[in-house]
Amino acid sequence: HSLKKYVEPLPMMPRIYGYSIKDGRPMSIGLTIGMFEKKWKFHRDLPATTVFIYGTSREAATFPGPTIEAIQGVPLNVTWENHLPKKHILPWDPTIPVAIPKHGGVPAVVHLHGGIHEPQADGSAFAWYTAKFREKGPKWTQTNYSYPNVQHPGNLWYHDHALGLTRANLLAGLIGIYIIRNPFVEAPLGLPAGDEYDRQLVLDDRSFYKDGSLYMNYRGNNPTVHPQWQPEYFGEVIVVNGKAWPYLVVQSRKYRFRILNSSNARYFHLSLSDGLPFTVIGSDVTYLRRPVTTSSILIAPAEIYDVVIDFSESATSTVRLTNSAPYPFPGGDPVSTQSSKVMKFVISPEKTKDVSKIPATLMANYPVANENEGTARRYIVLYEYQSATGEPTHLYINGKRLEDPATETPKSGSTEVWEVINLTEDNHPLHLHLATFQAVRVRELVDLEAFTACMRRMNDAIKCNVKAHAVGQLEAAPEHEKTWKNIAKIKPGHMTTIVVKFKLIDEDAPYPFDATKQPGYVYHCHILDHEDNAMIRPLTLRS
Ligand code: C2O
Ligand code: CU
Repeated sequence: HSLKKYVEPLPMMPRIYGYSIKDGRPMSIGLTIGMFEKKWKFHRDLPATTVFIYGTSREAATFPGPTIEAIQGVPLNVTWENHLPKKHILPWDPTIPVAIPKHGGVPAVVHLHGGIHEPQADGSAFAWYTAKFREKGPKWTQTNYSYPNVQHPGNLWYHDHALGLTRANLLAGLIGIYIIRNPFVEAPLGLPAGDEYDRQLVLDDRSFYKDGSLYMNYRGNNPTVHPQWQPEYFGEVIVVNGKAWPYLVVQSRKYRFRILNSSNARYFHLSLSDGLPFTVIGSDVTYLRRPVTTSSILIAPAEIYDVVIDFSESATSTVRLTNSAPYPFPGGDPVSTQSSKVMKFVISPEKTKDVSKIPATLMANYPVANENEGTARRYIVLYEYQSATGEPTHLYINGKRLEDPATETPKSGSTEVWEVINLTEDNHPLHLHLATFQAVRVRELVDLEAFTACMRRMNDAIKCNVKAHAVGQLEAAPEHEKTWKNIAKIKPGHMTTIVVKFKLIDEDAPYPFDATKQPGYVYHCHILDHEDNAMIRPLTLRS
């Protein structure tokens, strides 16, 4: 790709307020947001690309979709309408578990990632529907989703979740940011604020044909088993807010950036040129207790880091955001020259007054992640299955499929400890719907071969004497990742211990709704190509 870098200005996505103000108070409202097929310009020198994107209308639809701003405690109702055409713009694979409508159309269903809401509003993979709700999946129940926004202020995102089509539907553009704010708690922090200084960066990778259309491989790595499915999608063009390698003119002051990695499979190891640091203030749905300054951030698919960059400390007038993560991560090819570049900041010479600050303490009232509070300990084992030639054919969790009965059935309101064991060579971003969690320990597994062989035979971590294998080196998690999150990066050959709360973390209170209803929730790997085939399991809460 010979596209010229840093010639496209970074767009700001349209903003939708998920509330109205009446007598000075925020009130609950309803919104309708559609999914549309549309042309989108990723770069001035690339012909327009057909994409599937969200918007309040076809004209307003953008890649990524509008940023939705909600207020903590003010419920928002959204009707998500499918206006997608008869045929998909990308290849999909009928040999993996996938939604196949009888009368054509693109199956879609929206999940609010990081959202704490009832199961019926969760966007079950089986609750997909085609245009005009003409055809519906077996677990479809309603057109209107209610998001209570009962959780702490933080960063969420919304995206498609249709069975076996998640990788294609997100690649096509069905992604958008959702922010929960609480002005009473957040304004006193004094962080950079307002649309100009509090911004979102949505990072992903794409490849294109010369005519501008999105490229996705039409042939699987193991076509006799799966004619199309590939274990990971990687694109060579880095896209930020829908533009290839954009630039942003900034003032010489502090900015807040909420950085989301919405790639299918690419990890970004981000740094700034000339050693300018990031001050991390939050990750996923929560703030950190206190800010942590770091020179680099490793951001997995679906992970979010909320950072402050102080451009007044830059010694140079331009600052580049770069990526050094191998792909697949961590054992794959070293980053290419193309995909090592992300975007550029151009610092304007004019002096401006900056009254924002980075406070010493952000949110001090979160509970400490305490393993001893766990009322259950579960072993979650990640596997890869291979063909005779060593090509991955599919991936499972605990050797089970999504369609198999739920084995993870935590009590609503409880805290559990999950030991997540990675027997593959890749790092996997583990995501649980509804719950928030924190990694408290990462330990290397010893005698990995014997353990793996036993697991393949017995599929039972306790019978395979996990305690004798989980005795390798301990690894410290970076300070800036120690908060309540929706994604944990699960290291290959290691056992990662996470403390999971099936309740509201800040008040340590049960959910103010019935989380035990059908169709329940799911947990899965957020490498979308893995999730689709089929590193995903039901998560069913009980009362
Ligand atoms: Cu971000 Cu199950 O999804
Ligand atoms: Cu995975």
